[in-house]
Amino acid sequence: MDRAGILVAWAVSMMMVSSNLVQGLGVNWGTMASHPLHPSIVANLLKDNGIKKVKLFDSDHWTVNALADSDIEVMIAIPNLELEDFAGSYHHAKKFVKQNVTAHLKEPGGVKIRYVGVGNEPFLKSYNGSFVKSTFPALQNVQKALDEAGVGDKIKATVPLNADVYESSSDKPSDGNFRPDIKDQMVEIVQFLNDNNAPFSVNIYPFLSLYQNDDFPVDFAFFDNTGRTINDKNLQYNNVFDANFDTLVWALKKAGFPNLKILVGEVGWPTDGHKSANAKSAKRFYDGLIKKLANNKGTPMKPGYLETYLFGLFDEDQKSVAPGPFERHWGIFRYDGQPKFPMDLSGQGRNQMLVPAKGVQYLEKKWCVLDSDVSDFEAVGPQVDFACGLSDCSSLGLARSCGELNAHDNVSYAFNMYFQTLDQSVEACDFKGWGRIVTNNASQGDCLFPIQIMSGGKRLGLSFAALVVTIFGGALMSFFLFV
Ligand SMILES: *[C@@H]1O[C@H](CO)[C@@H](O)[C@H](O)[C@H]1NC(C)=O
Ligand SMILES: *[C@@H]1O[C@H](CO)[C@@H](O)[C@H](O)[C@H]1NC(C)=O
Ligand SMILES: *[C@@H]1O[C@H](CO)[C@@H](O)[C@H](O)[C@H]1NC(C)=O
Ligand SMILES: *[C@@H]1O[C@H](CO)[C@@H](O)[C@H](O)[C@H]1NC(C)=O
Repeated sequence: MDRAGILVAWAVSMMMVSSNLVQGLGVNWGTMASHPLHPSIVANLLKDNGIKKVKLFDSDHWTVNALADSDIEVMIAIPNLELEDFAGSYHHAKKFVKQNVTAHLKEPGGVKIRYVGVGNEPFLKSYNGSFVKSTFPALQNVQKALDEAGVGDKIKATVPLNADVYESSSDKPSDGNFRPDIKDQMVEIVQFLNDNNAPFSVNIYPFLSLYQNDDFPVDFAFFDNTGRTINDKNLQYNNVFDANFDTLVWALKKAGFPNLKILVGEVGWPTDGHKSANAKSAKRFYDGLIKKLANNKGTPMKPGYLETYLFGLFDEDQKSVAPGPFERHWGIFRYDGQPKFPMDLSGQGRNQMLVPAKGVQYLEKKWCVLDSDVSDFEAVGPQVDFACGLSDCSSLGLARSCGELNAHDNVSYAFNMYFQTLDQSVEACDFKGWGRIVTNNASQGDCLFPIQIMSGGKRLGLSFAALVVTIFGGALMSFFLFV
């Protein structure tokens, strides 16, 4: 090829790259929100952004059907509380596969289900072993039912696990092994995944390494080689993600399965609720991660392609804040499907925003605030506790997006969150007569007083009595911290 030919070929290949998403890049779509977006809006959002893989936390028909007739590959899931049913009854697993898997597979126009997630981080230490007995039998029954339905070649059952299923006795990945209390179960599961050509699925959270340890070297959580370096058997580690991942690789190697396929089921960075949780740090994290994935760099022990699901799509205002207030701020999009920071899913680091959700309808431009005459904030205290208890005040407090509010605006923020969560019902702005509905934007600086959206469905509804404590694993994981 002559020089011009090479240039043309190069330009064409660049154009192809730029229109392509990083190979294998997926996202987690959670719905623990008071006002979840309509599934068809979300499906279009995925398509508009070229996202071709999505991981769900259940197999809700409305959600799954929205992904029909698209080229998006899907991981559906079975919640932890249902594991017992699947473990105890093969018939139940068969019914599930019939109703919730094969029913969606018609060609053409069906849903491209690729995986069934059995449980969600069921071995998390904070669950005190509740799901340790049921997970493996449930996994076996689900894969058997998939096989018997004739789809087991294409659709694999796996267990989405948290990185707290393994640990290292030092700061070196090569000292990694499975956690002693669940080691027997892990070895059984790994053997089974291997026999069935199914992947190991692991959630890795560098943010939590930082969150759990004030002495953690901050730069080591990111991917720009500016933090520390760990040398391990002639391999260099300059970020905690690689070190964490390779600790798993070593654990698998020691169990006798060095070549088991691993996918990263969750990885991401929150944007509020902690001093290191903000749009700037999230952008830094994702820029590094996506570039690494685009280059198929893999990790020192496993170079190459890495199937990865970002966590997550949206902020979810009904997640438990037991792990920390950041828990409701993991979205690469806000609650309303607006992108929060520039992100280039092709891995070229271009400074561009993701395509926002289209067709989202908002409630009226009305806010609920504290009457300006009120100055006895102590008296108002119980009203604030009430409002925050039933809505989301995780942006209030030191070093968070609404941490600079004065005492009066603090109360207004709480009132407004409750008012919006209850769809701006007039009674929801009473607060013993201290609340006022206003039409001028109550936002203050960087602190957004949001207007809620018209919900695509209240699957979780406002029956907050159902404060099911869904302890999100990450924060409670006790992965060693590399310090
Ligand atoms: C199928 O999915 C629906 C929606 O998530 C769920 O309610 C139902 O229990 C599932 N069926 C089985 C047999 O698990
Ligand atoms: C686990 O045990 C601790 C301490 O006994 C308890 O506080 C916690 O609620 C338990 N968690 C679950 C999910 O059972
Ligand atoms: C605002 O509310 C938060 C959360 O309740 C509290 O931590 C903070 O101290 C309050 N700030 C003021 C100025 O009252
Ligand atoms: C209110 O103001 C904030 C910034 O001050 C802005 O981001 C937000 O979009 C405004 N809300 C509405 C509904 O206009």
